[in-house]
Amino acid sequence: MLQTKINPEGKTVFISGSNRGIGKAIAVELLEQGAKKVYAGARNTSSLDDLKVKYGDKLVPVELDVTDDNSINEAAAQIKDVDILVNNAGVFATGGIFSEQAFDSLDTNLKVNLWGVIKLTNAVIEQLKQPKETAIINISSVAGLANMPMAATYSVSKSALHSLTQGMRGELVNSNVLVMGVYPGPIDTDMAKGLPMEKDSPENVAKNIVKGLIEGKDDVYPDVMSTQVGALYAEDPKSVEDNFGKYV
Ligand SMILES: NC(=O)c1ccc[n+]([C@@H]2O[C@H](COP(=O)([O-])OP(=O)(O)OC[C@H]3O[C@@H](n4cnc5c(N)ncnc54)[C@H](OP(=O)(O)O)[C@@H]3O)[C@@H](O)[C@H]2O)c1
Repeated sequence: MLQTKINPEGKTVFISGSNRGIGKAIAVELLEQGAKKVYAGARNTSSLDDLKVKYGDKLVPVELDVTDDNSINEAAAQIKDVDILVNNAGVFATGGIFSEQAFDSLDTNLKVNLWGVIKLTNAVIEQLKQPKETAIINISSVAGLANMPMAATYSVSKSALHSLTQGMRGELVNSNVLVMGVYPGPIDTDMAKGLPMEKDSPENVAKNIVKGLIEGKDDVYPDVMSTQVGALYAEDPKSVEDNFGKYV
């Protein structure tokens, strides 16, 4: 198996959901570490104004809603020579498996967190199959490693994304495409606003993702909580399920 290591210097990047939270922090970190250009996906491109002012021509706003096939195709047609695709856009719809909102909530989570990723990646994959090293980075969650009942349908979507990531890696095993799965714990963004837990920063997550690219890592646990969960998962996956079961 090839081990693909990626230095961000001079690279062209496409990020979904780059206007806030973890996606914005990844855009900033890659540009600060020498990326040539970031195609910054956002549903509303005016939400990228501050990044545009700061980074000028290096930041190219791209309108993108990952639940809309036309939007995906139009976005993919605008971007060129992408070296790194970051599937970051995500939603956190709550609802237990036996709750009234179970099906709506699962549908919402799957549309963005799973279907959005497979559709966007398929729209861009030919650009990534190059003789040079390229990467696909999928932002899953520790909740994709074992189900967290307080976020049961979200966990299902992130677990499906974990499997999708493994499948992409398998199909691309003899290529120069690094397929990285990222498994954050609670991070201080709008998404986790209501969660009464200690949270790491999106900037730390972004730094560890870029470190993972440079080291050619398949799996990245980018924050304090996920580093502990990742170690436990490697040793005893059932105990991760047992621990997450306490978050009801
Ligand atoms: N925060 C955490 O604790 C945590 C933990 C583990 C994993 N994650 C994952 O990390 C990723 C980023 O989350 P975050 O914490 O940065 O959340 P966030 O601050 O809520 O940002 C979510 C981003 O996704 C975009 N988005 C949502 N639906 C979209 C759609 N249909 N099409 C395109 N973009 C869409 C949002 O765009 P708008 O501004 O237009 O809504 C926003 O840019 C997600 O995949 C999330 O599941 C987060």
